[in-house]
Parts: sequence; C-alpha cells; structure tokens
Amino acid sequence: MTDLAKLESETLAAIAAADTLDALETVRIAALGKQGSVSALLKTLGAMSPEERQQKGPLINGLRESVSGAIASRKAGLESALLNERLAAERIDMSLPAPEAPQGSVHPVSQVMDELAEVFADMGFAVATGPEIEDDWHNFTALNIPETHPARAMHDTFYFPDQMAVDGKKMLLRTHTSPVQIRTMMTQAPPIRIIAPGRVYRSDSDATHTPMFHQIEGLVIDRGIHLGHLKWTLETFLKGFFERDDVVLRLRPSYFPFTEPSVEVDVGYSEVDGKRVIGGSEKWMEVLGSGMVHPRVIANCGLDPDIYQGFAFGTGVDRLAMLKYGMDDLRAFFDGDLRWLRHYGFSALDVPTLSGGVGA
Ligand code: DAH
Repeated sequence: MTDLAKLESETLAAIAAADTLDALETVRIAALGKQGSVSALLKTLGAMSPEERQQKGPLINGLRESVSGAIASRKAGLESALLNERLAAERIDMSLPAPEAPQGSVHPVSQVMDELAEVFADMGFAVATGPEIEDDWHNFTALNIPETHPARAMHDTFYFPDQMAVDGKKMLLRTHTSPVQIRTMMTQAPPIRIIAPGRVYRSDSDATHTPMFHQIEGLVIDRGIHLGHLKWTLETFLKGFFERDDVVLRLRPSYFPFTEPSVEVDVGYSEVDGKRVIGGSEKWMEVLGSGMVHPRVIANCGLDPDIYQGFAFGTGVDRLAMLKYGMDDLRAFFDGDLRWLRHYGFSALDVPTLSGGVGA
C-alpha cells in the first residue's frame, strides 16, 4: 500500500470511529488543519517538478476531497443523530390531560352582589357607593338618629379616637349602608333610584355575626311614591333573586328612625330536609328592613318633603347568600379556607345576567 493509500484508509477509519462532533473535529484538524497530515502533503506540491506534480497532484487532491467529503457526511450523520436524541428526550405526549392549573373562584358575596345589581338594573336602579370611614352626621344624625338616640348604642359602633375628628365630626366605620342614601340625596336631583351594596362594620361576632359584613341599601325618591311601589319593588326583587314566582311577602309594622312608616319584610319559606326553601307561606323569616323615607331625612338632605317622597330598604348580602346557596356559618365567609372557596365559589365565567339566569 502506498503512503497515500495508507494515510487515506487510516484517516477514513478515524472519521468513521469519531462518535461525537468534538472527536470528529479533532480528526479534521489532524488531517486538514494547518499542521494536518493532508495539508502537509498539499504543501509538498509546490516544491515538485512539473512532471511529478502532474502525477501526484490529482492523487493528493483526491485524498483531500475524499477526506473532507467523509468528514462532511460523518458530521451530518452525527448532527442528525444528536437532533433525534434531543427530540426523543424532549418529547411531549400530547395525549396526556393538561396538568391541573391553580384556579381561583368568585366569592359568593361578590357573586350575590353582582346578582343583586343585575336584578335591580332591570328595574332601572343605578349602583351608588359611599365611604366605609364615615362621620357620625351621615351615619346617624342625618338619618334622624340624634346623639341621644338609643339606636346609636344598638349599632355597636367602631369609633375612631376623638383626635381623628374631621371638621369637628366624629369619625367611625359605617354601621350600615344607609348613609349612602344621604350622600345620594345631597348630590343627585330626583328622581333617584339607587342601590348601594358594600361593607359595614359592627363590634359583634358569633355564628351569624361578624365584625365586618355586607349590606345592600335601596333608595327611591320621586313625586308621589307610596308603600305600594315599595311592596312591588321588593316582591319583584326577591322573585328575581331567588328565581321563583311563588315568593310571598309579609309586611309587618316596625320602627326605624329614618323611615315612617317602617316595615319589616318577611318572606315565606318551607323546610325541606332541614334546609330552608324560599316560596309559599308555610313559615316566615325576616329578610329586609324598609319603609317610607322619613320627611325629616329628606329635609336634612336639602329636598322638600312636601314635594318629594320615597322609600328605602336595607338587608344583609351575606344572609341572602346563605339563604340562596345554603351555607350555615357566616364566619366561614371570611376565613379564606380554599376548600370552602372551591366548594361555594363561582367560576369567573359564570356572570349573572337576567337572560342567562342569576342563579348557579
Ligand atoms: N340600616 C338598617 C340596619 O342596618 C337597615 C334598614 C332598615 C335600611 C330600614 C333601610 C330601611 O333603608 O329603610 O339595620
């Protein structure tokens, strides 16, 4: 075997044996690099006589071509093997179910507030809001609850220290949503039709009371408003909210400082497997406080009670949620227990609409 043939077979064998791209590169440098064996042979061509070059030139060039061709094809082979290996390692099984993503849910209080807004929007009510940090004038005085009134003591109010009075007014956490009535009458001209859902605070805690809870207030002010409008509105509201036509109301005379006359509203229900089901008139449960807005409250807001009359109502949102969705402990509403939230929460896509239903 000539030296050339020997070099060729050794180099081709080394190329075939190179099992990584790095090893192949080492073989390439040894053959075709500046100091490589094939390059050294190519350099000898310059010193040859023309006859010798004519004879050896094609042989040496042929050697270089066969070596570089073998390297290129080995390289392509190693690269595609590497790619296949990676594809196999990074394979995604598209037939597997998607991994469970953490999911939030809409709290029943938020859901019920949306339901209420939807039911009342259908009757032409706008949503109004007011501050949770109130002054005692809006929370009490303007609502016909003067300083000496026993109702102030009944509200278990969280007061701010005297040093935090604003413009001489004592500040507190609102004990009900009723001050939104005052704020609305003082800033909007009648006719007024609003609901005001929101957080309220009282120093009270047991299975049915928490220091923070939610109320919704309603207010209608216009000319010629009477108790019949109130009854129709509450009936339509409760039928829509509980999604039943057999809702029966009972209005009982009561007392609130800011309404005259005042009525407490009971709704009929029956007990099925220990659960209360709204409808009929077998048993009664109180669900709302309401009445005709006291003329003094209307006057306190700068309106003439001889021209404008109205009705107002207020109720607990959390209690409505418990009645509709069957929870029995109010405190669990605010524990943030994920199991409770998953069980009683709503999908973010479950937006209440009157056409689609305001229920679950
Ligand atoms: N503010 C009352 C409370 O928290 C509820 C209430 C009763 C609101 C009668 C009203 C109403 O608007 O007319 O107990």
